[in-house]
Amino acid sequence: MRILVAGGAGYIGAHMVKCLAENGHTVTVFDNLSSGHPEAVRWGRLVVGDVLDRPALDAVLQADRYDAVMHFCARSLVGESMSQPLVYYRNNVLGTLTLLEAMQTAGVDRLVFSSSAAVFGQPLSERIDEDHPLAPINPYGASKWMCERMIEDAVKAFGLHAVALRYFNAAGAAPQGRIGESHQPETHLIPNVLRAVLEQGSAAPLQIFGDDYPTRDGTCVRDYVHVDDLAAAHLAALQLLQQEPGMHRFNLGNGAGFSVREVIAAAGRVCGRRVPHQVAPRRDGDPATLVAASDHAREVLGWKPRYTDIEAILETAWRWHRAPVY
Ligand code: UD1
Repeated sequence: MRILVAGGAGYIGAHMVKCLAENGHTVTVFDNLSSGHPEAVRWGRLVVGDVLDRPALDAVLQADRYDAVMHFCARSLVGESMSQPLVYYRNNVLGTLTLLEAMQTAGVDRLVFSSSAAVFGQPLSERIDEDHPLAPINPYGASKWMCERMIEDAVKAFGLHAVALRYFNAAGAAPQGRIGESHQPETHLIPNVLRAVLEQGSAAPLQIFGDDYPTRDGTCVRDYVHVDDLAAAHLAALQLLQQEPGMHRFNLGNGAGFSVREVIAAAGRVCGRRVPHQVAPRRDGDPATLVAASDHAREVLGWKPRYTDIEAILETAWRWHRAPVY
């Protein structure tokens, strides 16, 4: 198939492009490089452009006949979304709206959309399945919820077929890929833990954002899922859209939660070094616990994550962080 990967120079997008190419698909990446890395696009053609730029989208979508679009472009930092909500609504909601319009005009009727566990807000159950109420508590999550809603309405109205994949916490790196997680500034836990290990003595220790949450050790619990396992779920979603039209939603996680302190301890074992850390105030917008129930993805997509162990995930991240290519 010929696939347009919007946001394919970013962390998850670049792993997706690699996976698509390895499975025989032809990929065009459309990315404004605001946070992505051109060096990460090694398995497809790169077109530099912004999803908010309708003429640029029309040009790329109408130049070739695409079978599907995968949409990874988004601002995705919870804390930043609390202080700059309108930037999030513009980029994420208006960007998705513009992409949907351009797809309709170009007659591309299949979409795989990067959604997030942030659409759920504070969990009402131990593990979150697809029937859990949607009640985002930060503008990032609200923007993803609005996108899902627009996509659902487009599916009903004009024959778009779509899959929304709600990632829990994407982590790790392709073992042989020479691509990994690198954001500027970096706010994610695992890259920050590994930086604290690598730069100990010369940089600030890792900050643990809050140790007074109602969890087993007071720190936030998250469900870390390997980025290559996420890519595999997207591939299965593409296949599903060939057979099952309409709108589908899947929660993607390993179904096991690790606290910030547990991630620090596991990283210490993987790196064989101490992780310098200190407790800091809570970060705005963080729910205490987020753990996925991914039975629906396992049953319908046949998805089976290969990395179910936090240390195995951390090992792949550690390998890349010791010698990042970009
Ligand atoms: C958030 C979203 C998630 C989204 C991801 C994309 C929520 C609840 N989750 O993940 O859906 O896919 O962003 O970017 O909206 N932490 C520290 N110190 C640090 C960094 C993080 O203690 O230096 C803590 C955080 O408070 C959090 C956990 O580690 O409890 C994970 O944080 P992070 O890696 O930033 O991801 P989320 O915010 O959980």
